[in-house]
Amino acid sequence: MPARRAGGGLAGGDGLNDKPIENLPMMPQRPAAPAGAPTVYIETYGCQMNVYDSAAIAALLGRAGLARGDDPLTADIVLINTCSVRDHAEHKVLSRVGELRRDREEAGRRPAVMGILGCMAERLGEALTGERQRIDVVVGVDRYESLPGILTAALAGSGGAGSAVVTGHRDDAHYVAPPQLYPQNGSHLVTIHKGCDYRCTYCIVPYTRGPQREKAPAAILDEVRAVVAAGGQEVTLLGQNVTAYRWRGELDFAGLLTQVARVDGLARIRFLTGHPRDMHERLMDVIGAEPKVCPGLHVPGQCGSDRVLARMKRRYTRAEYLHMVAYARRVVPDVTISGDIIVGFPGETEEDFAQTLSLVREVGYDNLFCYTYSERPGAPAVRLGDDVPADTKKRRLAEVMALQDEVWQAIAAAQVGQTWSAVAEEPARRTEGAWRLRTLNNRKILAPLAAGVPGRTYRVRVDGFRNTSFFGTAV
Ligand code: SAH
Ligand code: SF4
Ligand code: F3S
Repeated sequence: MPARRAGGGLAGGDGLNDKPIENLPMMPQRPAAPAGAPTVYIETYGCQMNVYDSAAIAALLGRAGLARGDDPLTADIVLINTCSVRDHAEHKVLSRVGELRRDREEAGRRPAVMGILGCMAERLGEALTGERQRIDVVVGVDRYESLPGILTAALAGSGGAGSAVVTGHRDDAHYVAPPQLYPQNGSHLVTIHKGCDYRCTYCIVPYTRGPQREKAPAAILDEVRAVVAAGGQEVTLLGQNVTAYRWRGELDFAGLLTQVARVDGLARIRFLTGHPRDMHERLMDVIGAEPKVCPGLHVPGQCGSDRVLARMKRRYTRAEYLHMVAYARRVVPDVTISGDIIVGFPGETEEDFAQTLSLVREVGYDNLFCYTYSERPGAPAVRLGDDVPADTKKRRLAEVMALQDEVWQAIAAAQVGQTWSAVAEEPARRTEGAWRLRTLNNRKILAPLAAGVPGRTYRVRVDGFRNTSFFGTAV
Protein backbone atom coordinates (compact mmCIF):
# COMPACT_ATOMS: atom_id res chain seq x y z
CA MET A 1 0.00 0.00 0.00
CA PRO A 2 1.49 3.37 -0.94
CA ALA A 3 2.62 5.87 1.63
CA ARG A 4 0.01 8.58 1.89
CA ARG A 5 -0.05 11.92 3.53
CA ALA A 6 -2.56 14.45 4.64
CA GLY A 7 -2.16 17.95 6.03
CA GLY A 8 0.64 20.42 5.30
CA GLY A 9 4.19 21.07 6.42
CA LEU A 10 7.80 19.96 6.25
CA ALA A 11 8.26 16.52 4.75
CA GLY A 12 8.76 14.65 7.98
CA GLY A 13 8.84 10.88 8.36
CA ASP A 14 9.52 9.61 4.91
CA GLY A 15 6.56 10.57 2.82
CA LEU A 16 9.02 10.82 -0.05
CA ASN A 17 9.27 7.12 -0.69
CA ASP A 18 7.07 7.06 -3.72
CA LYS A 19 9.06 9.32 -5.94
CA PRO A 20 12.75 9.86 -6.28
CA ILE A 21 14.16 12.85 -4.48
CA GLU A 22 15.62 15.02 -7.23
CA ASN A 23 19.01 14.10 -8.66
CA LEU A 24 21.47 15.75 -6.33
CA PRO A 25 22.65 19.23 -7.15
CA MET A 26 25.82 19.32 -5.11
CA MET A 27 28.17 17.35 -7.31
CA PRO A 28 29.66 20.02 -9.55
CA GLN A 29 28.47 19.97 -13.14
CA ARG A 30 32.08 20.04 -14.31
CA PRO A 31 34.23 18.91 -11.40
CA ALA A 32 37.98 18.84 -11.62
CA ALA A 33 37.60 15.53 -13.43
CA PRO A 34 39.68 14.78 -16.51
CA ALA A 35 37.92 15.34 -19.84
CA GLY A 36 35.97 12.23 -20.74
CA ALA A 37 35.73 11.14 -17.08
CA PRO A 38 32.99 8.56 -16.48
CA THR A 39 29.68 10.11 -15.47
CA VAL A 40 27.54 9.03 -12.54
CA TYR A 41 23.83 9.59 -12.06
CA ILE A 42 22.37 9.18 -8.56
CA GLU A 43 18.66 8.74 -7.83
CA THR A 44 17.53 8.89 -4.22
CA TYR A 45 14.52 7.34 -2.46
CA GLY A 46 13.51 7.12 1.18
CA CYS A 47 14.14 9.50 4.03
CA GLN A 48 16.35 12.57 4.38
CA MET A 49 19.13 10.36 5.74
CA ASN A 50 19.44 9.02 2.22
CA VAL A 51 19.37 12.53 0.76
CA TYR A 52 22.29 13.41 3.01
CA ASP A 53 24.16 10.20 2.21
CA SER A 54 23.69 10.75 -1.53
CA ALA A 55 25.20 14.21 -1.12
CA ALA A 56 28.17 12.69 0.69
CA ILE A 57 28.49 10.00 -2.00
CA ALA A 58 28.36 12.56 -4.80
CA ALA A 59 31.15 14.51 -3.12
CA LEU A 60 33.20 11.35 -2.57
CA LEU A 61 32.86 10.32 -6.21
CA GLY A 62 33.62 13.85 -7.39
CA ARG A 63 36.89 13.73 -5.41
CA ALA A 64 37.64 10.36 -7.02
CA GLY A 65 37.50 11.94 -10.48
CA LEU A 66 34.00 10.96 -11.61
CA ALA A 67 31.78 13.58 -13.21
CA ARG A 68 28.12 14.15 -12.50
CA GLY A 69 25.64 12.84 -15.06
CA ASP A 70 22.16 14.30 -15.15
CA ASP A 71 20.65 11.75 -17.47
CA PRO A 72 20.22 8.08 -16.59
CA LEU A 73 20.02 7.33 -20.33
CA THR A 74 23.58 8.42 -20.97
CA ALA A 75 25.45 8.18 -17.64
CA ASP A 76 28.14 5.51 -17.42
CA ILE A 77 27.08 4.64 -13.88
CA VAL A 78 23.56 4.69 -12.43
CA LEU A 79 23.30 4.51 -8.65
CA ILE A 80 20.00 4.19 -6.79
CA ASN A 81 19.97 4.99 -3.09
CA THR A 82 17.09 2.97 -1.69
CA CYS A 83 14.62 2.53 1.17
CA SER A 84 13.28 -0.64 2.79
CA VAL A 85 10.80 0.84 5.22
CA ARG A 86 7.78 -0.57 3.42
CA ASP A 87 7.37 -3.27 0.82
CA HIS A 88 6.07 -0.70 -1.65
CA ALA A 89 9.29 1.35 -1.43
CA GLU A 90 11.34 -1.68 -2.42
CA HIS A 91 9.04 -2.66 -5.28
CA LYS A 92 9.19 0.82 -6.65
CA VAL A 93 13.00 0.65 -6.88
CA LEU A 94 13.02 -2.77 -8.52
CA SER A 95 10.59 -1.66 -11.18
CA ARG A 96 12.63 1.51 -11.67
CA VAL A 97 15.74 -0.59 -12.33
CA GLY A 98 13.83 -2.51 -15.01
CA GLU A 99 12.55 0.70 -16.52
CA LEU A 100 16.02 2.27 -16.67
CA ARG A 101 17.40 -0.83 -18.37
CA ARG A 102 14.60 -0.90 -20.93
CA ASP A 103 14.92 2.82 -21.70
CA ARG A 104 18.60 2.41 -22.45
CA GLU A 105 18.02 -0.63 -24.60
CA GLU A 106 15.34 1.16 -26.58
CA ALA A 107 17.59 4.18 -27.04
CA GLY A 108 20.32 1.87 -28.34
CA ARG A 109 22.69 2.72 -25.48
CA ARG A 110 25.01 0.27 -23.86
CA PRO A 111 24.02 -0.81 -20.35
CA ALA A 112 25.19 1.36 -17.46
CA VAL A 113 27.01 -0.01 -14.45
CA MET A 114 23.97 -0.37 -12.20
CA GLY A 115 24.34 0.07 -8.45
CA ILE A 116 21.97 -0.27 -5.51
CA LEU A 117 22.94 1.62 -2.36
CA GLY A 118 21.24 2.25 0.96
CA CYS A 119 18.80 0.25 3.02
CA MET A 120 17.78 -2.27 0.34
CA ALA A 121 21.44 -2.99 -0.35
CA GLU A 122 21.94 -3.65 3.33
CA ARG A 123 18.81 -5.77 3.67
CA LEU A 124 19.01 -7.80 0.47
CA GLY A 125 22.75 -7.79 -0.35
CA GLU A 126 23.72 -10.72 -2.54
CA ALA A 127 20.08 -11.39 -3.49
CA LEU A 128 20.14 -8.27 -5.68
CA THR A 129 22.85 -9.69 -7.91
CA GLY A 130 20.84 -12.73 -9.00
CA GLU A 131 19.54 -13.56 -12.45
CA ARG A 132 16.46 -11.40 -11.99
CA GLN A 133 17.92 -8.11 -10.82
CA ARG A 134 21.43 -8.35 -12.31
CA ILE A 135 22.76 -5.49 -10.22
CA ASP A 136 26.49 -4.89 -10.72
CA VAL A 137 27.26 -3.08 -7.50
CA VAL A 138 25.53 -3.40 -4.11
CA VAL A 139 26.88 -1.18 -1.34
CA GLY A 140 25.31 -0.87 2.10
CA VAL A 141 24.83 2.21 4.27
CA ASP A 142 28.18 2.06 6.09
CA ARG A 143 30.39 1.16 3.14
CA TYR A 144 30.31 4.02 0.69
CA GLU A 145 34.05 4.68 0.91
CA SER A 146 34.50 1.49 -1.12
CA LEU A 147 32.50 2.91 -4.03
CA PRO A 148 35.30 4.60 -6.05
CA GLY A 149 37.35 1.38 -6.21
CA ILE A 150 34.39 -0.86 -6.94
CA LEU A 151 32.97 1.43 -9.60
CA THR A 152 36.34 1.77 -11.34
CA ALA A 153 36.68 -2.01 -11.41
CA ALA A 154 33.11 -2.42 -12.66
CA LEU A 155 33.71 0.09 -15.46
CA ALA A 156 36.94 -1.61 -16.48
CA GLY A 157 35.28 -5.00 -16.63
CA SER A 158 31.97 -3.71 -18.05
CA GLY A 159 29.77 -6.60 -18.98
CA GLY A 160 32.12 -9.44 -18.00
CA ALA A 161 32.93 -8.68 -14.36
CA GLY A 162 30.93 -10.32 -11.58
CA SER A 163 28.89 -8.26 -9.15
CA ALA A 164 30.44 -6.60 -6.13
CA VAL A 165 28.57 -6.66 -2.81
CA VAL A 166 29.83 -4.71 0.21
CA THR A 167 27.56 -4.53 3.25
CA GLY A 168 27.80 -4.72 7.04
CA HIS A 169 27.78 -2.08 9.74
CA ARG A 170 30.84 -0.39 11.12
CA ASP A 171 31.34 2.14 13.84
CA ASP A 172 34.00 4.38 12.38
CA ALA A 173 32.36 5.64 9.21
CA HIS A 174 30.42 8.86 9.60
CA TYR A 175 29.74 10.51 6.30
CA VAL A 176 30.06 14.23 5.86
CA ALA A 177 28.10 15.86 3.07
CA PRO A 178 29.22 19.26 1.88
CA PRO A 179 26.65 22.00 2.43
CA GLN A 180 23.92 21.18 -0.04
CA LEU A 181 22.82 23.78 -2.50
CA TYR A 182 19.48 24.81 -1.19
CA PRO A 183 17.48 21.58 -1.18
CA GLN A 184 13.67 21.50 -1.29
CA ASN A 185 12.96 22.58 2.25
CA GLY A 186 15.65 25.25 2.28
CA SER A 187 17.49 23.58 5.10
CA HIS A 188 20.94 22.05 4.95
CA LEU A 189 20.89 18.55 6.34
CA VAL A 190 23.42 17.61 9.00
CA THR A 191 23.28 13.99 10.08
CA ILE A 192 24.10 13.72 13.80
CA HIS A 193 24.02 9.96 14.21
CA LYS A 194 23.27 6.79 12.35
CA GLY A 195 21.18 3.77 13.22
CA CYS A 196 18.59 3.26 15.91
CA ASP A 197 18.56 1.28 19.17
CA TYR A 198 14.79 1.29 19.57
CA ARG A 199 13.34 -1.81 18.09
CA CYS A 200 9.79 -0.83 17.33
CA THR A 201 8.46 -4.20 16.27
CA TYR A 202 7.22 -3.14 12.82
CA CYS A 203 10.39 -1.34 11.81
CA ILE A 204 13.28 -2.48 9.61
CA VAL A 205 15.48 0.57 10.22
CA PRO A 206 17.48 -0.85 13.19
CA TYR A 207 18.49 -3.74 10.92
CA THR A 208 19.26 -1.77 7.77
CA ARG A 209 20.96 1.16 9.51
CA GLY A 210 22.40 -0.76 12.44
CA PRO A 211 22.77 0.32 16.06
CA GLN A 212 22.76 3.97 17.03
CA ARG A 213 26.23 5.52 16.68
CA GLU A 214 26.77 9.20 17.36
CA LYS A 215 28.77 11.67 15.32
CA ALA A 216 31.07 13.64 17.64
CA PRO A 217 29.72 17.04 18.72
CA ALA A 218 32.87 18.75 17.39
CA ALA A 219 32.30 17.20 13.95
CA ILE A 220 28.64 18.27 13.97
CA LEU A 221 29.59 21.82 14.91
CA ASP A 222 32.23 21.89 12.15
CA GLU A 223 29.57 20.91 9.63
CA VAL A 224 27.19 23.56 10.87
CA ARG A 225 29.94 26.19 10.61
CA ALA A 226 30.68 24.98 7.07
CA VAL A 227 27.01 25.49 6.18
CA VAL A 228 27.19 29.07 7.47
CA ALA A 229 30.51 29.68 5.67
CA ALA A 230 28.86 28.50 2.43
CA GLY A 231 26.07 31.06 2.90
CA GLY A 232 23.50 28.78 4.53
CA GLN A 233 21.37 30.00 7.42
CA GLU A 234 19.43 26.92 8.40
CA VAL A 235 20.27 23.34 9.37
CA THR A 236 18.13 20.29 9.97
CA LEU A 237 19.80 17.99 12.49
CA LEU A 238 19.05 14.58 11.17
CA GLY A 239 18.73 11.04 12.47
CA GLN A 240 16.14 8.29 12.91
CA ASN A 241 16.00 9.10 16.59
CA VAL A 242 17.71 12.46 17.14
CA THR A 243 16.17 13.05 20.55
CA ALA A 244 18.06 9.96 21.82
CA TYR A 245 21.41 11.59 20.90
CA ARG A 246 23.91 11.09 23.70
CA TRP A 247 27.64 11.69 23.46
CA ARG A 248 29.62 9.72 26.09
CA GLY A 249 27.31 10.66 28.92
CA GLU A 250 28.46 14.27 28.51
CA LEU A 251 26.03 15.75 26.07
CA ASP A 252 22.44 14.91 25.23
CA PHE A 253 20.24 16.29 22.45
CA ALA A 254 19.18 19.33 24.49
CA GLY A 255 22.87 20.13 25.08
CA LEU A 256 23.68 19.64 21.42
CA LEU A 257 20.86 21.99 20.39
CA THR A 258 22.25 24.63 22.75
CA GLN A 259 25.75 24.28 21.28
CA VAL A 260 24.55 24.38 17.68
CA ALA A 261 22.46 27.45 18.50
CA ARG A 262 25.65 29.26 19.55
CA VAL A 263 27.12 29.02 16.03
CA ASP A 264 27.38 32.62 14.81
CA GLY A 265 25.51 33.38 11.62
CA LEU A 266 23.16 30.40 11.91
CA ALA A 267 19.56 31.58 11.95
CA ARG A 268 17.46 28.43 12.31
CA ILE A 269 17.68 24.86 13.54
CA ARG A 270 15.17 22.17 12.69
CA PHE A 271 15.43 18.49 13.56
CA LEU A 272 14.06 15.17 12.36
CA THR A 273 12.90 12.76 13.77
CA GLY A 274 12.12 13.15 17.45
CA HIS A 275 10.84 10.18 19.40
CA PRO A 276 7.91 10.98 21.71
CA ARG A 277 9.51 9.14 24.62
CA ASP A 278 12.61 11.34 24.53
CA MET A 279 10.72 14.60 24.12
CA HIS A 280 11.01 15.19 27.83
CA GLU A 281 10.12 18.40 29.57
CA ARG A 282 13.69 19.67 29.92
CA LEU A 283 14.24 19.26 26.16
CA MET A 284 11.01 21.08 25.36
CA ASP A 285 12.01 23.85 27.77
CA VAL A 286 15.22 24.28 25.73
CA ILE A 287 13.29 24.22 22.44
CA GLY A 288 10.87 26.80 23.77
CA ALA A 289 13.59 29.09 25.12
CA GLU A 290 16.06 28.95 22.23
CA PRO A 291 14.87 31.30 19.48
CA LYS A 292 16.93 29.58 16.78
CA VAL A 293 15.17 26.24 17.29
CA CYS A 294 12.10 26.10 15.05
CA PRO A 295 8.86 25.17 16.79
CA GLY A 296 7.65 22.60 14.25
CA LEU A 297 7.84 19.23 15.99
CA HIS A 298 7.61 15.96 14.08
CA VAL A 299 6.71 13.42 16.75
CA PRO A 300 5.19 10.25 15.29
CA GLY A 301 2.52 8.80 17.58
CA GLN A 302 1.92 5.76 15.30
CA CYS A 303 -1.41 4.88 16.91
CA GLY A 304 -3.76 5.80 19.73
CA SER A 305 -4.32 2.48 21.45
CA ASP A 306 -2.16 1.52 24.45
CA ARG A 307 -2.58 -2.15 23.60
CA VAL A 308 -1.16 -1.61 20.11
CA LEU A 309 1.52 0.84 21.29
CA ALA A 310 2.77 -1.87 23.67
CA ARG A 311 2.81 -4.46 20.89
CA MET A 312 4.71 -1.98 18.72
CA LYS A 313 7.15 -1.48 21.65
CA ARG A 314 6.88 2.27 21.27
CA ARG A 315 7.88 2.92 24.91
CA TYR A 316 5.11 5.42 25.68
CA THR A 317 1.40 5.32 26.43
CA ARG A 318 -1.31 7.36 24.82
CA ALA A 319 -1.55 9.48 27.98
CA GLU A 320 2.21 10.14 27.98
CA TYR A 321 2.07 11.12 24.32
CA LEU A 322 -0.81 13.51 24.94
CA HIS A 323 0.99 14.96 27.95
CA MET A 324 4.06 15.58 25.76
CA VAL A 325 1.92 17.40 23.18
CA ALA A 326 0.18 19.47 25.86
CA TYR A 327 3.51 20.40 27.47
CA ALA A 328 4.96 21.41 24.08
CA ARG A 329 1.95 23.65 23.51
CA ARG A 330 2.53 25.25 26.89
CA VAL A 331 6.26 25.98 26.67
CA VAL A 332 7.05 26.25 22.95
CA PRO A 333 5.56 29.42 21.47
CA ASP A 334 3.67 28.87 18.17
CA VAL A 335 4.43 25.17 18.22
CA THR A 336 2.91 22.92 15.55
CA ILE A 337 2.84 19.15 15.74
CA SER A 338 3.18 16.70 12.89
CA GLY A 339 3.31 12.93 13.07
CA ASP A 340 3.05 9.51 11.48
CA ILE A 341 0.29 6.94 11.86
CA ILE A 342 0.31 3.25 11.01
CA VAL A 343 -3.03 1.53 10.51
CA GLY A 344 -3.56 -2.22 10.38
CA PHE A 345 -0.76 -3.27 12.73
CA PRO A 346 -1.16 -6.98 13.60
CA GLY A 347 -4.09 -7.53 15.92
CA GLU A 348 -5.45 -3.97 15.53
CA THR A 349 -9.18 -4.14 16.29
CA GLU A 350 -11.90 -1.63 15.39
CA GLU A 351 -11.72 -0.43 19.00
CA ASP A 352 -7.94 0.10 18.71
CA PHE A 353 -8.46 1.97 15.46
CA ALA A 354 -11.17 4.14 17.04
CA GLN A 355 -8.52 5.13 19.61
CA THR A 356 -6.23 6.22 16.77
CA LEU A 357 -9.01 8.36 15.30
CA SER A 358 -9.65 9.97 18.65
CA LEU A 359 -5.91 10.63 19.10
CA VAL A 360 -5.79 12.39 15.74
CA ARG A 361 -8.76 14.50 16.75
CA GLU A 362 -7.32 15.29 20.14
CA VAL A 363 -3.79 16.24 19.00
CA GLY A 364 -4.73 18.46 16.06
CA TYR A 365 -1.82 17.68 13.76
CA ASP A 366 -0.67 20.17 11.21
CA ASN A 367 0.62 17.39 9.08
CA LEU A 368 0.08 13.67 9.31
CA PHE A 369 1.78 10.94 7.30
CA CYS A 370 -0.47 7.90 7.26
CA TYR A 371 0.66 4.41 6.32
CA THR A 372 -0.81 0.95 6.18
CA TYR A 373 1.23 -1.61 8.06
CA SER A 374 3.69 -3.38 5.80
CA GLU A 375 5.24 -6.55 7.14
CA ARG A 376 9.04 -6.41 6.95
CA PRO A 377 10.89 -9.71 6.85
CA GLY A 378 13.30 -9.71 9.79
CA ALA A 379 11.35 -7.21 11.91
CA PRO A 380 9.99 -8.62 15.20
CA ALA A 381 6.30 -8.04 14.35
CA VAL A 382 6.51 -10.80 11.72
CA ARG A 383 5.88 -13.16 14.65
CA LEU A 384 2.51 -11.51 15.25
CA GLY A 385 1.24 -12.35 11.76
CA ASP A 386 -0.08 -9.81 9.28
CA ASP A 387 -3.70 -10.48 10.16
CA VAL A 388 -5.60 -7.30 9.32
CA PRO A 389 -7.13 -7.85 5.86
CA ALA A 390 -5.88 -5.56 3.08
CA ASP A 391 -9.30 -4.01 2.48
CA THR A 392 -9.67 -3.23 6.19
CA LYS A 393 -6.27 -1.53 6.18
CA LYS A 394 -7.26 0.43 3.12
CA ARG A 395 -10.53 1.55 4.67
CA ARG A 396 -8.83 2.58 7.93
CA LEU A 397 -6.22 4.52 5.97
CA ALA A 398 -8.96 6.38 4.10
CA GLU A 399 -10.80 7.07 7.35
CA VAL A 400 -7.83 8.43 9.23
CA MET A 401 -6.85 10.60 6.27
CA ALA A 402 -10.38 11.95 5.90
CA LEU A 403 -10.43 12.79 9.60
CA GLN A 404 -7.05 14.52 9.36
CA ASP A 405 -8.37 16.59 6.45
CA GLU A 406 -11.35 17.63 8.55
CA VAL A 407 -9.16 18.48 11.56
CA TRP A 408 -6.76 20.36 9.30
CA GLN A 409 -9.53 22.44 7.70
CA ALA A 410 -10.46 23.77 11.13
CA ILE A 411 -6.84 24.49 12.08
CA ALA A 412 -6.18 26.20 8.74
CA ALA A 413 -9.36 28.29 8.79
CA ALA A 414 -8.39 29.69 12.18
CA GLN A 415 -5.16 31.09 10.68
CA VAL A 416 -6.83 33.37 8.12
CA GLY A 417 -6.23 37.03 8.96
CA GLN A 418 -3.10 36.35 11.03
CA THR A 419 0.26 37.83 10.10
CA TRP A 420 3.24 35.49 10.08
CA SER A 421 6.99 35.73 9.68
CA ALA A 422 8.02 33.37 6.91
CA VAL A 423 11.25 32.53 5.13
CA ALA A 424 11.31 32.77 1.32
CA GLU A 425 12.29 29.44 -0.23
CA GLU A 426 11.81 29.67 -3.99
CA PRO A 427 9.59 31.21 -6.67
CA ALA A 428 6.29 29.32 -7.01
CA ARG A 429 6.21 27.11 -10.07
CA ARG A 430 2.68 27.81 -11.17
CA THR A 431 1.87 31.30 -9.95
CA GLU A 432 3.70 34.14 -11.70
CA GLY A 433 5.38 36.53 -9.22
CA ALA A 434 4.52 34.40 -6.19
CA TRP A 435 7.06 32.84 -3.84
CA ARG A 436 6.91 29.80 -1.64
CA LEU A 437 7.64 30.73 1.94
CA ARG A 438 7.81 28.64 5.09
CA THR A 439 7.12 29.71 8.65
CA LEU A 440 9.36 28.64 11.50
CA ASN A 441 6.70 26.19 12.57
CA ASN A 442 6.65 24.60 9.12
CA ARG A 443 3.60 26.12 7.51
CA LYS A 444 3.81 26.74 3.78
CA ILE A 445 2.50 29.98 2.37
CA LEU A 446 2.45 31.40 -1.14
CA ALA A 447 2.72 35.17 -1.49
CA PRO A 448 3.75 37.63 -4.20
CA LEU A 449 7.16 39.19 -3.43
CA ALA A 450 8.49 42.05 -5.56
CA ALA A 451 12.12 40.95 -5.33
CA GLY A 452 12.22 37.80 -3.27
CA VAL A 453 15.51 36.65 -1.78
CA PRO A 454 15.76 32.99 -0.76
CA GLY A 455 16.44 32.65 2.96
CA ARG A 456 15.16 36.15 3.79
CA THR A 457 12.29 36.52 6.29
CA TYR A 458 9.12 38.39 5.24
CA ARG A 459 5.93 39.37 7.06
CA VAL A 460 2.90 37.87 5.32
CA ARG A 461 -0.80 38.13 6.07
CA VAL A 462 -2.76 34.91 5.63
CA ASP A 463 -5.60 35.43 3.13
CA GLY A 464 -6.74 31.84 2.72
CA PHE A 465 -5.66 28.27 2.15
CA ARG A 466 -6.01 25.50 -0.34
CA ASN A 467 -5.34 21.93 0.72
CA THR A 468 -2.10 22.02 2.67
CA SER A 469 -0.85 25.39 1.55
CA PHE A 470 -1.77 28.92 2.59
CA PHE A 471 -1.77 31.97 0.37
CA GLY A 472 -1.26 35.52 1.50
CA THR A 473 0.06 39.03 0.98
CA ALA A 474 3.39 40.48 2.04
CA VAL A 475 2.81 43.34 4.49
N1 SAH B 1 12.48 7.08 13.37
C1 SAH B 1 11.23 7.60 13.14
C2 SAH B 1 10.58 7.16 11.85
C3 SAH B 1 11.06 5.95 11.13
S1 SAH B 1 10.34 5.41 9.64
C4 SAH B 1 10.34 7.33 14.34
O1 SAH B 1 10.67 6.58 15.21
O2 SAH B 1 9.29 7.88 14.42
C5 SAH B 1 9.10 6.60 9.23
C6 SAH B 1 7.71 6.14 9.45
O3 SAH B 1 7.40 5.04 8.62
C7 SAH B 1 7.42 5.65 10.84
O4 SAH B 1 7.18 6.70 11.71
C8 SAH B 1 6.21 4.79 10.64
O5 SAH B 1 5.03 5.53 10.72
C9 SAH B 1 6.38 4.29 9.22
N2 SAH B 1 6.75 2.88 9.18
C10 SAH B 1 7.89 2.32 9.63
N3 SAH B 1 7.85 0.98 9.44
C11 SAH B 1 6.66 0.70 8.86
C12 SAH B 1 6.02 -0.49 8.44
N4 SAH B 1 6.61 -1.69 8.58
N5 SAH B 1 4.80 -0.41 7.87
C13 SAH B 1 4.18 0.78 7.73
N6 SAH B 1 4.73 1.94 8.12
C14 SAH B 1 5.96 1.91 8.68
FE1 SF4 C 1 12.13 2.53 13.61
FE2 SF4 C 1 11.26 2.87 16.08
FE3 SF4 C 1 13.83 3.34 15.49
FE4 SF4 C 1 11.92 4.98 14.58
S1 SF4 C 1 12.46 4.63 16.74
S2 SF4 C 1 13.63 4.14 13.42
S3 SF4 C 1 10.22 3.60 14.18
S4 SF4 C 1 12.78 1.36 15.43
FE1 F3S D 1 13.99 4.07 4.42
FE2 F3S D 1 16.33 3.44 5.34
FE3 F3S D 1 15.38 5.87 5.69
S1 F3S D 1 14.56 2.15 5.38
S2 F3S D 1 13.20 5.51 5.86
S3 F3S D 1 15.89 4.97 3.76
S4 F3S D 1 16.62 4.72 7.11
